[in-house]
Amino acid sequence: MAYRSLVLGAFASTSLAASVVTPRDPVPPGFVAAPYYPAPHGGWIASWEEAYSKAEALVSQMTLAEKTNITSGIGIFMGNTGSAERLGFPRMCLQDSALGVSSADNVTAFPAGITTGATFDKKLIYARGVAIGEEHRGKGTNVYLGPSVGPLGRKPLGGRNWEGFGSDPVLQAKAAALTIKGVQEQGIIATIKHLIGNEQEMYRMYNPFQPGYSANIDDRTLHELYLWPFAEAVHVGVGSAMTAYNAVNGSACSQHSYLINGLLKDELGFQGFVMSDWLSHISGVDSALAGLDMNMPGDTNIPLFGFSNWHYELSRSVLNGSVPLDRLNDMVTRIVATWYKFGQDKDHPRPNFSSNTRDRDGLLYPAALFSPKGQVNWFVNVQADHYLIAREVAQDAITLLKNNGSFLPLATSQSLHVFGTAAQVNPDGPNACMNRACNKGTLGMGWGSGVADYPYLDDPITAIRKRVPDVKFFNTDGFPWFHPTPSPDDVAIVFITSDAGENSFTVEGNNGDRNSAKLAAWHNGDELVRKTAEKYSSVIVVAQTVGPLDLESWIDNPRVKGVLFQHLPGQEAGESLANILFGDVSPSGHLPYSITKRANDFPDSIANLRGFAFGQVQDTFSEGLYIDYRWLNKQKTKPRFAFGHGLSYTNFSFDATIESVTRLSLVPPARAPKGSTPVYSTEIPPASEAYWPSGFNRIWRYLYSWLNKNDADKAYAVGIAGVKKYNYPAGYSTVQKPGPAAGGGEGGNPALWDVAFRVPVTVKNTGTEFSGRASVQAYIQYPEGIPYDTPIVQLRDFEKTQVLAPGETETVTIELTRRDLSVWDTELQNWVVPGFDGKRYTVWIGDASDRLFTACYTDTGICEGGKVPPV
Ligand code: BGC
Repeated sequence: MAYRSLVLGAFASTSLAASVVTPRDPVPPGFVAAPYYPAPHGGWIASWEEAYSKAEALVSQMTLAEKTNITSGIGIFMGNTGSAERLGFPRMCLQDSALGVSSADNVTAFPAGITTGATFDKKLIYARGVAIGEEHRGKGTNVYLGPSVGPLGRKPLGGRNWEGFGSDPVLQAKAAALTIKGVQEQGIIATIKHLIGNEQEMYRMYNPFQPGYSANIDDRTLHELYLWPFAEAVHVGVGSAMTAYNAVNGSACSQHSYLINGLLKDELGFQGFVMSDWLSHISGVDSALAGLDMNMPGDTNIPLFGFSNWHYELSRSVLNGSVPLDRLNDMVTRIVATWYKFGQDKDHPRPNFSSNTRDRDGLLYPAALFSPKGQVNWFVNVQADHYLIAREVAQDAITLLKNNGSFLPLATSQSLHVFGTAAQVNPDGPNACMNRACNKGTLGMGWGSGVADYPYLDDPITAIRKRVPDVKFFNTDGFPWFHPTPSPDDVAIVFITSDAGENSFTVEGNNGDRNSAKLAAWHNGDELVRKTAEKYSSVIVVAQTVGPLDLESWIDNPRVKGVLFQHLPGQEAGESLANILFGDVSPSGHLPYSITKRANDFPDSIANLRGFAFGQVQDTFSEGLYIDYRWLNKQKTKPRFAFGHGLSYTNFSFDATIESVTRLSLVPPARAPKGSTPVYSTEIPPASEAYWPSGFNRIWRYLYSWLNKNDADKAYAVGIAGVKKYNYPAGYSTVQKPGPAAGGGEGGNPALWDVAFRVPVTVKNTGTEFSGRASVQAYIQYPEGIPYDTPIVQLRDFEKTQVLAPGETETVTIELTRRDLSVWDTELQNWVVPGFDGKRYTVWIGDASDRLFTACYTDTGICEGGKVPPV
């Protein structure tokens, strides 16, 4: 069902003159896309055993054409994957988006990932995941195309950061894992995406004239930052993974054997299936050998010509022996096993909506143009009471950055003047722009594939009016020319926005990334704030934004009393805000990224997008581990507002102790060998298994996996002659490997997940007036004198209290695992605990990355000044 105007996307990256095509331009020295073959078989992990043995039984009955059919979509706009109906294996419906069900009616438009991350609230993140899963199930989806953790949020200008949870691997990892758990408990397969390094939109895609850009990432940075959330997703059993559009270290992600075979499937022990991002499939044999299991939406990267690199081509490649049947069997088994694993063989609803039309009846094969019609929409309402969760997320994400003189909350008796078009829903309707590719009215989400249709948009002005009926609203982004002098008691609330999205659309000159006015608010929002503050002595700024903003031109103005970030609130933008503005609820959101004073507080590699180059654009992650607060701390640069910052109307005290749980060794104990995996015949199947059925009525542009008899026979003859004509890549092998020491379970060596320390933190609301929720963030500082350069502090876990009344306390527990205390040793190719021999880590606890105190170790009854003892 998933579709969009991807044709645009395919070309949008080539706005400049086409260059000479060089499939693999030189990447800077030291960045290596090493070969890793063969693709590891799935099925060796105990928790997947049952699903794999069911899959084995089904797959062993499939013909060649049935097998190749289920590894691909049937074509853009056609919807879904191919099926093996004869055996009861259906076409699978794969549907966006990271924030709900996209392109569908009667769904909830949840707050975006970035908003969800800003709650720093595990229970809410999970509840949102459950609700998203329920909605996908109700609509008949098989595979939910989320959550997104790549981009990780390295570049503040990056277009799709808002789909994920914030610029930190641990925040991304924990939020993704909870989302996956919530979704998959509803019998929906979640997809962790995009593997990996998709940190900007510009030049992300391969096209016939130019390769997508190469994200050049070193081994340690890859493990400790960008792969970290993927490992956690695999650890909780995510069913599918999507490769990114770009290349990594010179090799396209959709056919990157080291990434897919090596890291994802062998080291992380991923048991599900790997799909390509839409129209990023650029080879047939190479991508199969590199470990890709599903090609979406089935077409070559120029769609709509009825061509595919797989389907009939994959049938041919197996018959002529270039793709070993063993590889195809593993691809298919992974897909079928995942379907069984989530119980989709038992009364899983069939899709009851169309992404192509809101009408009841529509084309059954939209890309075919001349297609039979039939009922395509059943208008199933799946919203239930999910608005409550959506509202709670939107509300508890609201981040109070500044509150001079405790000016907020407001009283409903105050005289309020509201400025900014973002206070009110787009007058053309909240869904007026396709894929939300415009910034008009309240900004509840960015644009692109990561959106949903609003069932309604509860806008701020409506919610404010409910409390203050005579509020004055100036529905303008320019300060009115003739504005009567306000009285000193009048309070101005100014709404500003900043939007971004996917490269398939350009909005107000921004082609995905925020590339026009750096981090300024759109529509001259900063000027609106400044002008308003010239007139009004009390100004509150409310920002709806995809990410950090440059606040410098007004943030120190004493007349700007309060600043609230709503992030991207989704459909519940009104009440959630009013609850905070008027003090029904204390703000408890925290920044999921840092806000710097100057863009160049970050190095060039982070601050800027990589632009045009002849050949492949090189985006070298030269800052390594040092993104966001890691970089700023290293440089001793004070941000305007640090990662994790967020004020409340009340105050909290924290009291933490450390309990040691598991003693650690230098490296994790040796992994167990892999369990057994399904066994099939490896004989090339008879050519007849790929013949077109006689008298078959073909649909134009529909992608099929059958071949003409002659072609099939010819391929088979080559195959059984054993003449391997294919030019296999360097390092190619068909001998299964035992797997690396760092592997052994889902997410890596199971011991990585052992809890080494527990840190109970007792939080007290020390205020007298307001109830509130506290965010407890735990950061690790590695011991001094270790042979690894490590960022000064790194987030490792977080918890949030319930609502605490004044004087009330609650104890939350932080957990630190072996993985949290390890670094990736590039020589050992393993996780190492550098302090295992008696060196001391420091555990920093607080409610922002720049408001931390050390926890005390009390196992001996002595508080040792906040140092963790030898492990
Ligand atoms: C996006 C993916 C999305 C897919 C399907 C692509 O353009 O990058 O995130 O899931 O489209 O719509």
